[in-house]
Amino acid sequence: MTMTSVKAWSLLLLPFSLVSMGKAECPVPPMNGKFVLSLESILKNSFADDSEALVECAKGYERAKGPTSITCVNGVWSEVKLICKKVDCGQPKPSPHMTYSSPDGTLFGAYIQPICETGYDLEGSSFRQCLVSGWSGKAECILSECVFPDPIEHGERVGPKNPVFNDVITYSCNDNYTLVGNSSITCGEYGEYSSPPPICIVMITQTKASTTTNKATTTDTTTASNFSHGGIGEKLTNGSSSEFIL
Ligand SMILES: *[C@@H]1O[C@H](CO)[C@@H](O)[C@H](O)[C@H]1NC(C)=O
Repeated sequence: MTMTSVKAWSLLLLPFSLVSMGKAECPVPPMNGKFVLSLESILKNSFADDSEALVECAKGYERAKGPTSITCVNGVWSEVKLICKKVDCGQPKPSPHMTYSSPDGTLFGAYIQPICETGYDLEGSSFRQCLVSGWSGKAECILSECVFPDPIEHGERVGPKNPVFNDVITYSCNDNYTLVGNSSITCGEYGEYSSPPPICIVMITQTKASTTTNKATTTDTTTASNFSHGGIGEKLTNGSSSEFIL
């Protein structure tokens, strides 16, 4: 009577022991950088035989094709057939006067470089990276500005008060002064002018000099010719004021 009941118990338990002995659980599935276990599957403590785990593409990747599930068979996971490809950020939104250099493409992780048209300065990120959230940073191309030049002695300057690329400042000298240098300067692409401002120098009429001595006239002529050949000219200090002789 007692024997029978023990045997009966064993018989009842037999199918269950076979299940737990012959069919093994799977370990936590190994993942690589392109796909990860879904949150739901991560939270599972064990992976029984015949159970499924869900995989998904890692951050920065998206599903190209293939199933998102793997199956535990006799303690071994079926092969992951999910194929993930990098997210493509595509070309960033166009911005005025800007182009992008993207030698490494526009896929997740890639860097691109904003480039401004001539005469425009880059403001913002000098590089942008394709992230999960899209392109990092921001950039703008701003028209290059020049500082309005200081006044010059014995002359005037005319031009826009806030000069930008290609704006021209024009100079003129007061009566009896001669302009030396360029009569106009142009705001360049890096906020610099095309040349230094001109100077206004006083004109000395030669009549006075020639009436005094011939020697003086000769000196004056020599100085003038030096000047026209790009020489610095001779600066004569005459009391408190300095004069140039042409
Ligand atoms: C006048 O301007 C030109 C370019 O615009 C420059 O090459 C030249 O050096 C300038 N001359 C002077 C005297 O600044």
